[in-house]
Amino acid sequence: MSAVVSESLPALRPMGEVDLPDVLSIERASYEFPWTEAIFLDCLRVGYHCLVYDGHRSLQGYGIMSMGAGECHLLNICIHPDHRAQGLGSNLINHLLEVARQTFVRVALLEVRASNTIAYELYCRLGFNEIGTRRGYYPARRGREDALLLARELS
Ligand SMILES: CC(C)(COP(=O)(O)OP(=O)(O)OC[C@H]1O[C@@H](n2cnc3c(N)ncnc32)[C@H](O)[C@@H]1OP(=O)(O)O)[C@@H](O)C(=O)NCCC(=O)NCCS
Repeated sequence: MSAVVSESLPALRPMGEVDLPDVLSIERASYEFPWTEAIFLDCLRVGYHCLVYDGHRSLQGYGIMSMGAGECHLLNICIHPDHRAQGLGSNLINHLLEVARQTFVRVALLEVRASNTIAYELYCRLGFNEIGTRRGYYPARRGREDALLLARELS
């Protein structure tokens, strides 16, 4: 895969195991129930599309997408708290969707916590529509939280 170079955004490149300490640090700073190292290792080993924003001194975010059977699934999109609201999240999602489109994927899917308004609104602005709810999908401080299932056609 080729890196994405932009004048104003850091480069995107494939994630490797060597990146996992930085990735885990961003993950833990971003989610109350973060993925474990084992989950990231599984994603790398099964060949999911795993990208990082390489800011040279440190990573600024990452995204993980699976593809298969004409569908792609955005599994994790995460930007370092210090680098949010600068377009990195949108650019990363658009880049992953373009990769999927070029491999003849026609539908993109993702789940988002019902309480994650910032991410939900961002996905809607990028053309995703809510198509369902997965009851009690996520762990929560009190019990479980629903996931909203979002989809977007890739024409
Ligand atoms: C969701 C997330 C990936 C967005 O990344 P980002 O780099 O900030 O995204 P962008 O800069 O492309 O756009 C984010 C939009 O949300 C807005 N936004 C970002 N942070 C915000 C905040 N704290 N409060 C209100 N709006 C905010 C931005 O202004 C922007 O809106 P705009 O398009 O109208 O300008 C990032 O907030 C994040 O990593 N969150 C934690 C992990 C997460 O929840 N991931 C999604 C799981 S489904």
